[in-house]
Amino acid sequence: MESLFAGFTAVLDSGVGGLTVLKDLRAKYGECDFLYLADGAYCPYGTKSASALSNRLQTLLTWFESNGVRSAVLACNTASVFIGNLRRRFDLPVYGVIEPTCRLAAQTTVNKRVALLATNLTVKSGVYDGFLAKMRIETVSFACSALVPFAENNAFNSAACDIALHNALKNLPQANADTVILGCTHFPLLQDKISAYAGNAHIVQCVTDFSPSVFETPAANDRVECRRGKTIFLTTGNAPQINKTASVFCPEANFAHVDI
Ligand code: DGL
Repeated sequence: MESLFAGFTAVLDSGVGGLTVLKDLRAKYGECDFLYLADGAYCPYGTKSASALSNRLQTLLTWFESNGVRSAVLACNTASVFIGNLRRRFDLPVYGVIEPTCRLAAQTTVNKRVALLATNLTVKSGVYDGFLAKMRIETVSFACSALVPFAENNAFNSAACDIALHNALKNLPQANADTVILGCTHFPLLQDKISAYAGNAHIVQCVTDFSPSVFETPAANDRVECRRGKTIFLTTGNAPQINKTASVFCPEANFAHVDI
């Protein structure tokens, strides 16, 4: 049987946040075929237990491999916490956002103090702190899972969102960090509001170190038609709901539901 997504690169997030990473990937690698998967059935990731999320990610990567996916980008910081384990278990190349984003932040910080805004699970994992410490950078973390639903449901312009932002970020100005990492791919959608708390600090959005191995080392079964610059959008959650939110900043997204 023909693999459904032969040659595609999967781009995974719990919801709409990873579309901010996908946009960048499509601009850089226009010839690649991307399968964007929003794992709505498991959203939010940042408040799950580490073992539940680790199991879920293994299920998704198994599904990618069995559908012919060529590589996977974890366009989600919380999923990227598990990249070491996933790389050990799976053959397909897996790319994340945490290490490349730390390298970017290291280029911008002068006072070597960085504020991390991320989900509860990402903050608790200490993975960012570990990479930044290796570069002699101190991390001041802010657990901000409460902000995720406002981005996911396109509810940024609400009094409830303003209150959640205040509760999460009221101490950010005192952190004395000259660089703020938006360590959750949902947060660029709230960047205007976050900027008010960041003051003059430089804001860093997530980046990945994906390189399209499909062009560099073509496999014997690569087909030319796998390189059309096509993007397919799937969600394990509610397709009409995610289409409504995505239409605001990614109008071409047209999600269909998939059960995984
Ligand atoms: N967008 C995700 C991240 O970068 C996680 C949001 C969530 O589902 O909690 O961490």
